[in-house]
Amino acid sequence: MKGAIVDCLQALVSNKFGKDKWGKALEMGGYDPKKMFLVTEDVEDAKVLRLVDSVCKVLNISLTQAADAFGEYWVCEYAPKIYKAYYQAAPSAKDFLLKMDEVHRLTTINIPNAQPPRFKYEWLDNRTMVMKYESKRGLIDFLVGLVKGVGKHYKENLLVSKVGNASVKVVFAK
Ligand code: HEM
Repeated sequence: MKGAIVDCLQALVSNKFGKDKWGKALEMGGYDPKKMFLVTEDVEDAKVLRLVDSVCKVLNISLTQAADAFGEYWVCEYAPKIYKAYYQAAPSAKDFLLKMDEVHRLTTINIPNAQPPRFKYEWLDNRTMVMKYESKRGLIDFLVGLVKGVGKHYKENLLVSKVGNASVKVVFAK
């Protein structure tokens, strides 16, 4: 997975819980506690997941809590600095979510062997959308956390729930 994901995890843990906690998580994951990740490098999926697991242990939180914290940090703090244009192009949470399939295709287009998640959208009524997630990684809890983060960023009250292991239902307030 793209190094930006690990760099974001690093920033989240270091800024919100302390640099020492991130150092501990790195050590637990088999790394030097001072290891840095480049946003552009490719980090093996298994290594990313091992680091997430180490973070859960060091902070004593569940995977769902980690996924919610990561989703909010990525969407509200990390991505706006690096990928500002995508936010400027989307005036609402709905517009932003509907762009996510294209955004993932575009941000990974220059990465050899990248396998970005893809999304399909289905409307149950004019306020209720099901976002179908296609990825071999099965990170559905992260998808839920990220969608909740989008609601926070746009200050919209979204009702977000998991539907099985490959879809998320989103009810928009308007
Ligand atoms: C501007 C905002 C965003 C950008 C630029 C972005 C970009 C990326 C990139 C580069 C990856 C790594 C992909 C790879 O290495 O193969 C990734 C992973 C992922 N993104 Fe985003 N993302 C954004 C927001 C979101 C949002 C809002 C969601 C959910 C609605 C989302 C869902 C995911 C998921 C679930 C993954 C994990 C990879 C997988 O499941 O296969 N992302 N994203």
